[in-house]
Amino acid sequence: MLCLGIESSCDETGLALIDEKGIRASVLSSQIDLHALFGGVVPELASREHAKLLPLLFDELLEKAQIKCEDIQGIAVANGPGLLGSLLVGVAFAKSLALALDIPIVGVNHLHSHLSAVGLEYNTEFPALGILVSGGHTHLYEIKNFHEYKLLGKTLDDAAGEACDKFAKMLALPYPGGALLDMLGQQGELTKENKRIFPRPYTKNDNLDFSFSGLKTAAAQFLKVNPHLVLEALPKDAIASPQIHKERIKNAPQELSNAAAAYLYAIADTLAIKAKRSLEHFENPPKSLILAGGVAANSFVRERFSLFCKEEGLEFLYPSMKLCTDNAEMIAYLGRTMLCHGKSSGLDFPAYPRGSVLFN
Ligand code: KG4
Ligand code: ZN
Repeated sequence: MLCLGIESSCDETGLALIDEKGIRASVLSSQIDLHALFGGVVPELASREHAKLLPLLFDELLEKAQIKCEDIQGIAVANGPGLLGSLLVGVAFAKSLALALDIPIVGVNHLHSHLSAVGLEYNTEFPALGILVSGGHTHLYEIKNFHEYKLLGKTLDDAAGEACDKFAKMLALPYPGGALLDMLGQQGELTKENKRIFPRPYTKNDNLDFSFSGLKTAAAQFLKVNPHLVLEALPKDAIASPQIHKERIKNAPQELSNAAAAYLYAIADTLAIKAKRSLEHFENPPKSLILAGGVAANSFVRERFSLFCKEEGLEFLYPSMKLCTDNAEMIAYLGRTMLCHGKSSGLDFPAYPRGSVLFN
């Protein structure tokens, strides 16, 4: 089945075509530069960009794959969680197309699709422990197969990516600062002492949920005591240049790099503490661990889970960089899997905003 995937849950507009052999073609347009001007994603602007770009990107996709519209046999669209306006643009586009072509459609959980993306690159053994760490979510799952997910724990406030972005912002790095913070941390040293600078928030309990807001507070207090570590703010017109930020990071004091390493290690270790605890909740012991979402690109998180998997005898799987951040390939892949298992949606399926209790 040739399946079209559509992603528009936040600030990336993506379309991809997948069949039994894998990815046929994909297109992606990021709005990151637009939102960087405002220090975060502006929902109304994001929806307008999706509405403007989707028809243009769709034509580009057909051209790239050298197919006609009528060749598409199924449609998958991210219908949550995300920004409601942005999701609705993608969902409306997908439904119109499904109606016009008279083909099946399925609403896909964006978070599940992040985890299923490894299926495009690896043979996955189930059950799998799924750890989804993104800008808006920190979720632990028992994955029975790519179309059956059981939520075991989630963040009660800030997500791991948000915790990275907020510390980066405190240091005068631009939004979203997670990757730059990682770069800074990689220059740092992880000694026994600085591994303990920051707390492992919300771990002294017996549940599987996360709360990273305490870590943000600890970082703010740390910078209050060490104000000399905050990087010098840049004039507004310099904000868009990645090269300038790379230079700023390269010239950062060692003490700051050490603090970034300590902060990222605290996040990675907190994730590992809860992941370890989750193993007791599996019906059958997991065979693999899937790490996905933007923060799965973080070097500290990857290293911590590589060790975790060795200790626990789990196969460690994570998508390649390209499939880590938001993309339409993962939507098309999970949607195609669902459609092949008879899981299609009626044309009346809704879009679910982030935080909706009906969707996780
Ligand atoms: O999954 P994603 O692309 O978008 C959603 O949130 O759905 O994740 C984006 C998040 C941002 O918070 C970004 O700063 C973070 O992932 N991120 C990183 C790294 N690369 C991206 N955080 C830490 N280290 C990285 N290398
Ligand atoms: Zn995402």
